[in-house]
Amino acid sequence: MQTKELPIGVFDSGAGGVSVLAQAKICLPHENFIYYGDSANAPYGTRSENEIRDLTLACGDFLCGKGVKMIVIACNTATSITVQAMREKYNIPIISIEPAVKPAVEKHPQDQIAVLATPATLHQKRYWHLLDKLNAAGQVVNIECDSLAELVEQGNLSDPHIKAYLYERFLPYRGRNFGGIVVGCTHYSFVSAQIRDVAKKICGGSCEIFDGMYGTARHVANVLASEGLLSDSTEEGAVAFFSSGEEHNVGIFKRFLRFFLK
Ligand code: SIN
Repeated sequence: MQTKELPIGVFDSGAGGVSVLAQAKICLPHENFIYYGDSANAPYGTRSENEIRDLTLACGDFLCGKGVKMIVIACNTATSITVQAMREKYNIPIISIEPAVKPAVEKHPQDQIAVLATPATLHQKRYWHLLDKLNAAGQVVNIECDSLAELVEQGNLSDPHIKAYLYERFLPYRGRNFGGIVVGCTHYSFVSAQIRDVAKKICGGSCEIFDGMYGTARHVANVLASEGLLSDSTEEGAVAFFSSGEEHNVGIFKRFLRFFLK
């Protein structure tokens, strides 16, 4: 088979990366995808750097073993720790995701911006370099969410614990009037409407949501085009799902894909 007819591999610690998969599928309807969720080890965001590096490279090995033409790291936590190691290890394009701070500060230069992400993402140098590059450290309020990915991972997006957790996280920032809210973890994309509701109620401001999944999906399409790796197929592409966890995790991935493709 020609390399360009191989599937695109997408992975995450669990179900969150399905948000990126969905946007990539919308941009590239004729491509085939393999999605791997490391549900047995989710969430990554409260693990040590070494653990995250090992788990992430195991995801890369799994996808390469299936024969993919590109790997999309659909996990902010994995990106912040392992993107470089993956680029050194695998001889195919590696696409990563980063919190969408740039569009948020460009659109709301006078406002405070809240960035929600895992502790691992917010403590990494990669994130602080991003803020430095954008000269945004003084404008951004970092809100560490240690349990939100885990709650979303359960698959019940109307679980009242999600809203209760968000209330608790935003309460210290009452009246801050956030112009934008950056969802800096792919799991949070599934609850961004709830994030906005709670933030608006407690903090005020326009609380416009900024999500890196759109830019990442466009980047996947651009890199495939520039590397001559776009499939020639005119048929609708397929998605094959795999999980290191239990069978019901694959059911959650499929349901989450429909959430964005409905
Ligand atoms: C996690 O596994 O804790 C969250 C994944 C992410 O940061 O996107």
